[in-house]
Amino acid sequence: MTIARMIVDMSFAIGEIDRRLFGTFVEHIGRCVYGGIFEPGHPTSDARGFRQDVLALTRELGVTLVRYPGGNFLSGYDWEDGVGPVERRLRRLDLAWFATEPNTFGTNEFVDWCRVAEVDPLLCVNLGTRGADDARRLVEYCNHPGGTELSDLRRQHGYAEPHNIRLWGLGNEQDGPWQIGEKTAYEYGRIAKETAKLMRWVDPKVELSACGSSGREMPTFAGWEYEVLDQCYEQVDFLSLHQYFTNYDRNIAEFLGAADLMDRAIREIVAVCDAVGAKHRSSKKIMLSFDEYNVWWKARPTGKLKKVEGWSVGPAFNEEIYNFEDALVLGGAMIALLNNADRVKIACLAQLVNVIAPIITEPSGRAWRQTIFHPFADVANLAKGFTLRQAVECETFTSKTLGELPYLLAGVTHDRATRRIAIFALNRHLGEEMELSIELRGGLGALTLLNGRAMAGFDLSATNSAESELVRPAASSAGRVAGHTLHAILQPASWNVFVVTYA
Ligand code: AHR
Repeated sequence: MTIARMIVDMSFAIGEIDRRLFGTFVEHIGRCVYGGIFEPGHPTSDARGFRQDVLALTRELGVTLVRYPGGNFLSGYDWEDGVGPVERRLRRLDLAWFATEPNTFGTNEFVDWCRVAEVDPLLCVNLGTRGADDARRLVEYCNHPGGTELSDLRRQHGYAEPHNIRLWGLGNEQDGPWQIGEKTAYEYGRIAKETAKLMRWVDPKVELSACGSSGREMPTFAGWEYEVLDQCYEQVDFLSLHQYFTNYDRNIAEFLGAADLMDRAIREIVAVCDAVGAKHRSSKKIMLSFDEYNVWWKARPTGKLKKVEGWSVGPAFNEEIYNFEDALVLGGAMIALLNNADRVKIACLAQLVNVIAPIITEPSGRAWRQTIFHPFADVANLAKGFTLRQAVECETFTSKTLGELPYLLAGVTHDRATRRIAIFALNRHLGEEMELSIELRGGLGALTLLNGRAMAGFDLSATNSAESELVRPAASSAGRVAGHTLHAILQPASWNVFVVTYA
């Protein structure tokens, strides 16, 4: 038995949780759009071709925001191809994934889908093959009420009211050699600045996110962010981070340290943002948008890009099947996001359906939940209000890249409005139970444990399928409250959730 003790005080918060922290990502890639959220003729699809089984799972997942249309696809995309009468839309070659893009799903369909899914859109503009002019035209098309060529074109396309899209991404992974229209940090910083200026002049209410590095492993990591922000600091609100977790060495201890690596990347980039802010004598703080993260390696054996042959529409690829170990890692990533709630305001699990996704669909058939669905849903549905600071004492394990890491990884949130405290806890000890006690300070009335659930006891390699979704949380009686302390026994290698209320 390993022992972990924690003290939290309601007065000591890290930051307020932005609801946009629980976003996902829908790219025109593989079967994410075509055969994922959109499948005309599917038995559950409505007249627009939106799969209702996928929509129901999206709502259950607790998603608040969806980034679209890419991703690498974005950097070769002409938004004009995807609007207007469907029968007149052109088929194009997609050079990001070597597929054919039929353009039967575009910006307006995406906005409609978001409204039905009850999520906010994060719409991205192409800064690979295109630039500021096309971006300001897209903002005018989407957000201007009417009386101009582009806003009237939208009205003609059946949308009398503006879409009023608030959140926009400026390009995608422009530092990557695989990107259509790769740029140096200076080139990208300049184009991001000019694009942001024009987009804001069309609609002053937009919030804009610039591209950070494609990952911490990039040789230009941190330097890229510094130079980009040096160009566009005053014009943007957010800087993006991307990180995919891998386990090529089959080293579970290292893999479970993914959350700490994510945490480290966030702190490093916060430091860079603030350094540029200091250089510019700016009172403004740049917030972070972690708009791609997930486990991704089994379906990506050959590196960053996996291209398919044949130029087909919606080819099946990058369909990672997640196991229990991946769910633990994803739970850790969610905790890392919560514990940086003061600076990470937006995050998008990449992606939503089929491609490295929590939801998988069968063509013409069923839709089901992967293992990673559950920790995401737990946090998205229960973490509200503020994340609290923690004073933790517990044993550690050694990671090659990160040194000593605590067996306990936890996030504690407090929602004053509902008087609820949610605790998300990973026991990263693979062989021992954890005796956990959490003292909840801050003048609270009597505590009641409302809910306890755990994902535990599975083989690390256990997966779900359309036939069997056994890898999921179950109600747990492992916790109890005594006075102002929550006591719990956490099983080895387990994801645990407790919700406590107070009088
Ligand atoms: O999410 C899959 C791909 O990963 C995205 O298109 C790209 O941005 C990243 O490299």
